[in-house]
Amino acid sequence: MRVLVTGRDGQVARALAERAAAQGVTVVPLARPELDLSAPETILPALRRAGGDIVVNAAAYTAVDRAESEPELAQAINGTGAGAVAAAATALKIPVVQLSTDYVFEGTSERPYRESDPVGPVSAYGRSKLAGEEAVAAVTLD
Ligand SMILES: NC(=O)c1ccc[n+]([C@@H]2O[C@H](COP(=O)([O-])OP(=O)(O)OC[C@H]3O[C@@H](n4cnc5c(N)ncnc54)[C@H](OP(=O)(O)O)[C@@H]3O)[C@@H](O)[C@H]2O)c1
Repeated sequence: MRVLVTGRDGQVARALAERAAAQGVTVVPLARPELDLSAPETILPALRRAGGDIVVNAAAYTAVDRAESEPELAQAINGTGAGAVAAAATALKIPVVQLSTDYVFEGTSERPYRESDPVGPVSAYGRSKLAGEEAVAAVTLD
C-alpha cells in the first residue's frame, strides 16, 4: 500500500512515516511547493504524480495564536485547502483521512470529546479546522 501524506515535515507526518516504515507500508510524503494547500491548483497534479492508494492530509496551518491575526490564511489552508485535498482524492478515487483537533470544540467538557459531540470553536484556528471538516465531509459524504 502507498500512503500519500501531506505536510511532510510536520509532527504527524513524521510520526506516520516512522510507524509505516516499521510496518512495511510505503509512505510518500508531500510538501510545499509541489503541493500547497493555499494554492489548490497544485493539489490534484501532485497527488496524481505521486500515485497512492490513500491520502492522509497532515498539512495544516497550526499557528494557533497567529491565526487570530491572519484568519483568512488559516481558512485558506485549513478550510478551502483541506476541501481541495478531499476533492482531489475523490477525483482519483482514493480515500482521504482528514485530521481533527480538540480546537473544534468549545473546550469546557470534563471528559474526552467524542466525534458526535457538538462543535463550537472559540478561536480562529478552531473555526478554520471546522471549516475544513465541513468541506471534506461535503465532498466525501455525497
Ligand atoms: N500534533 C498534534 O498533537 C495534533 C493534535 C491534534 C490535531 N492535530 C492535527 O494534525 C494535523 C497536523 O498537525 P501537526 O502537529 O503535524 O502540525 P505541524 O507539525 O505544524 O505540521 C504542519 C505541516 O503542514 C505544512 N503546511 C503548512 N501550510 C501548508 C500549505 N499551505 N501547504 C502544504 N503544507 C503546509 C507545514 O509545512 P512547512 O514545514 O512548510 O511549514 C508542516 O509540515 C493538523 O491538522 C492538526 O490540526 C495535531
